[in-house]
Amino acid sequence: MITSALTYANGPLHIGHLAGANLTADIYARTLRNLGKDVLYVGGSDEHGAAITIKALKEGTTPQAIIDKYHKMFDESFRKIGISFDIYHRTSEPIHHETSQGFFRALYANGEFIEKESEQYYDEEAKAFLADRYIKGTCPKCGYEEAYGDQCESCGSTLSPTELINPFSTLTGNKPVLRKTTHWFLPLDKYEAWLKKWINEGVLDGQKVHDPKKWKNHVIGQCNSWLDSGLQPRAMTRDLDWGVDVPQEIAGAEGKKLYVWLDAPIGYISASKQWAIDHKKDWTPYWKSNDTALIHFIGKDNIVFHALIFPAILKAEGSFILPKNVPANQFLNLEGNKISTSRNWAIWLHEYLEDLPGKEDVLRYYLTRIMPEQKDSEFTWKGYQDANDNELVNNLGNFVNRVLVLTNKYYDGEIPDFDTNLAIVSSEGEDTTTFQDSELLLVFDKLQELVEFVQKFEFRAALKVLMEISTIGNQFLQFNAPWKSQKTDPEVTKVVMNTAAQMVVALSVAMEPFIPFASAKLRKMLSLPAVAGKGELEAILTALSEGQLLVEPGHKIEKAEYLFERIPDELIEAQRAKLQASAPVVASSYEPVKPEIQFDDFTKLDIRTATILTAEKMKKAKKLLVLTVDLGFEKRTIVSGIAEYYSPEDIVGRQVLVLCNLAPRKLRGVESEGMILMAENAEGALSFVAPEDGWGNGFGVA
Ligand code: 2FM
Ligand code: ZN
Repeated sequence: MITSALTYANGPLHIGHLAGANLTADIYARTLRNLGKDVLYVGGSDEHGAAITIKALKEGTTPQAIIDKYHKMFDESFRKIGISFDIYHRTSEPIHHETSQGFFRALYANGEFIEKESEQYYDEEAKAFLADRYIKGTCPKCGYEEAYGDQCESCGSTLSPTELINPFSTLTGNKPVLRKTTHWFLPLDKYEAWLKKWINEGVLDGQKVHDPKKWKNHVIGQCNSWLDSGLQPRAMTRDLDWGVDVPQEIAGAEGKKLYVWLDAPIGYISASKQWAIDHKKDWTPYWKSNDTALIHFIGKDNIVFHALIFPAILKAEGSFILPKNVPANQFLNLEGNKISTSRNWAIWLHEYLEDLPGKEDVLRYYLTRIMPEQKDSEFTWKGYQDANDNELVNNLGNFVNRVLVLTNKYYDGEIPDFDTNLAIVSSEGEDTTTFQDSELLLVFDKLQELVEFVQKFEFRAALKVLMEISTIGNQFLQFNAPWKSQKTDPEVTKVVMNTAAQMVVALSVAMEPFIPFASAKLRKMLSLPAVAGKGELEAILTALSEGQLLVEPGHKIEKAEYLFERIPDELIEAQRAKLQASAPVVASSYEPVKPEIQFDDFTKLDIRTATILTAEKMKKAKKLLVLTVDLGFEKRTIVSGIAEYYSPEDIVGRQVLVLCNLAPRKLRGVESEGMILMAENAEGALSFVAPEDGWGNGFGVA
């Protein structure tokens, strides 16, 4: 049971949505289907919550018009980029309202809720309670000034309105007041103990249900940071007029809607139910059988909801399984800045599909290659072009093309048969090994490696292995040079070309989860049926392990066409220009220029040239180096947070600038007597700011 985070239907999809929750899940789902597993993969549009109503307000239209517009767009864009949902659903469907109300009733009947009057922010001018996106303020975690009441889009932290510094209403800009209102709360504090055990040990009700070592560190880390600061009861209802009604038979339900983060993840279940109706299947095994692995693909801003709150809801209901893993990705940045809808700093999927038709796989390939699996990563158009030209064209495309062209040229498109005796490299009694065997064994090992990486959610590594198979193929051709041996030794050439054809067939299957359009095109050229998620990879692994061929001699292929084309510089330039032009104010994650100071303020800083004499890592501190520097007039110890960018051996002897009248400060027990000046870029990378080599020590900055 695989899910992709439901996207808020309040603006078009961009590459960040793909890199976070959708391409990941798609590669995973396709791979498992090709391994013959029973997969149900669902996605959909998240059509409730303030994200939608605020957009409608801004555009002077209705929430219904907004969701209809974007749901249609999402559905189309996802299909065109090849996200293989078994169903793409939407939370405005009646079946979803019924399903989420069913959950509310069950939790209510189980006595899980606390009904409680509390004080919440209220906008007196707009006459509205301000929860979630109706309220903004400064993020207490990262200082971003436009953080929402439910989360900070800059650092991904999950928040509640009362945590915001300087809160203001997004409706009027007013400072809100506190006012009493009654809601149903989920007592997360009551679940803290079992959640801790479940997250950290994978144990639920005394049963081992998952292996925490298989969870990403940053996911467990974020959960624990929540758990350690103590869970609070969280309201599961809102005072709103758009959303799923609280079941009306419940006293006090009037005017109350379900909290969007209660109904949204239940959307995965409603989608599964609709799929079951459409296909005359049973949805329950996918959600209630202990044999099922439930995997949620999300971005890091959704971690707490999928790894703590939704599991708490599922367990409170009582009849559902909990996720086996929540492989969240971090954020994808774009050309030096954070992707931002409001600043129009994004590559919009529908525009990409229109501007670059036929390049769906290039985007999929490059996004997988740079996927923010463990830390934030960055999309650049140059990187996109390089990945296409150097890897897809020069490596994969080249190998496939050479094999198909030569097969057509030498054998009129028929996979050649060959004399095994000509290919034997070793024999022991009855057992002989041909060089074809050893080459295909290599491919087998790589395929297994690839599958293991996908199963560990390491898609970048899996993609790398895929390309290694192609590299092996190219090296094999280069070494055996069939274009030469065809003239001198046509019989041996047949073994070479047969072997190369087997490799191409293996690749055509292995590439399908990553670049499905190229796979389909290649399968057609090979006169083989398209990979349809019916155990094709499993079949190949079995065949290879039993020493069988993947395609028989005599099989006739079609004409060769190029799988990929070089991307011209003009095209990249045009996309870059478009990005810059569409973001009128240069999007920047930097603070604007600081307040003006006087010359006297500057002269207070005693900045001197110095040389680093020694450097060593501070024990148990990832970021810190302990340095001694020569200031000319004296030597000092300085603790500097540069260990992630510079290793000690590389910086000894370097000239630097030191702020030397900074009050001394103890860091991890070591007194630091000054500060090394560094420049920091948008990604937080550091570079020395320094005089040219050979300057003496102790000179002041003027
Ligand atoms: O962050 C978001 O875009 C939410 N719409 C994700 C919801 S995921 C799930 F719960 F549906
Ligand atoms: Zn933040």
